[in-house]
Amino acid sequence: MMQSSNELVAPISDSWLIIGASSAIAQKLISECLKQDERTKIFAVSRSPKGKISNGAEKRVHWIQSDYSEASIIEIVGVLKEKKPRIRQVIICNGILHNEKFSPEKSLVEIKIDNLQEVMRINAFIPMLWVKHLKPVLTKSKRCTITAFSARVGSIEDNRKGGWYSYRASKAALNMLMKSASIEYSRSPKHVNFVLFHPGTTESALSRPFLERVTKESIFQPQLVAEYLIEILANSNKDDDLKFLAWNGETVPW
Ligand SMILES: NC(=O)c1ccc[n+]([C@@H]2O[C@H](COP(=O)([O-])OP(=O)(O)OC[C@H]3O[C@@H](n4cnc5c(N)ncnc54)[C@H](OP(=O)(O)O)[C@@H]3O)[C@@H](O)[C@H]2O)c1
Repeated sequence: MMQSSNELVAPISDSWLIIGASSAIAQKLISECLKQDERTKIFAVSRSPKGKISNGAEKRVHWIQSDYSEASIIEIVGVLKEKKPRIRQVIICNGILHNEKFSPEKSLVEIKIDNLQEVMRINAFIPMLWVKHLKPVLTKSKRCTITAFSARVGSIEDNRKGGWYSYRASKAALNMLMKSASIEYSRSPKHVNFVLFHPGTTESALSRPFLERVTKESIFQPQLVAEYLIEILANSNKDDDLKFLAWNGETVPW
């Protein structure tokens, strides 16, 4: 187990770019980051027009609305280029498991191409577009980590129960896309490293319909997960290869 919140002294500075910023975990990441370092500024990207940050540090959060189309991503990256922030952390939180139209598939007969494509688009392709377009901006940063929220169920080796076809496949695809991107980034600009992060079962809109099957002790609150991730990022080295890490810092098998 890692240490808990109050003991954390993460060396955070400059700007963080948090994408999918209305996620339950992202909201706590933003608050915790602002609390831990008074100089940090945050660019928060979301479909929502505004976040719920209310700890007095809202002025350090630049909230940007996006529909995550490639055009919107290019426009936001253009704004970042103009502002020339030194981005130290990019954290991509986007991910869906269900929505009003579909639930994760229990069996092959439930697979629908539209649902599969939608989950792939949000969980794998949108993160990839950010990584594609951010490269010129991050070239100017000194050192940066790109973190994408993955999930243990995206591990092929760890898949013992089957089911959840779209979600599992989308996270496995995300992992592979990030692996290739990390290799390309390691050639240039070299100083960017990548983390694929599994937060553990965490209470949020994404997990809520499935929490009945999980023991209470195994369900994390978003605040704790935010603290775990900040600690992982504080301890990651610039020369690290891409890692697939769980909330406790343990490596998740591919
Ligand atoms: N909760 C868990 O138990 C658990 C376990 C393993 C992995 N994860 C992963 O952790 C990440 C954060 O999830 P969470 O638990 O904090 O869930 P959440 O509160 O439901 O957040 C959902 C996230 O997905 C984005 N999103 C939702 N619908 C979208 C759409 N149509 N287009 C683009 N983006 C969309 C949201 O971005 P906006 O800000 O734009 O709304 C937000 O970042 C996800 O990638 C998830 O797969 C969660």
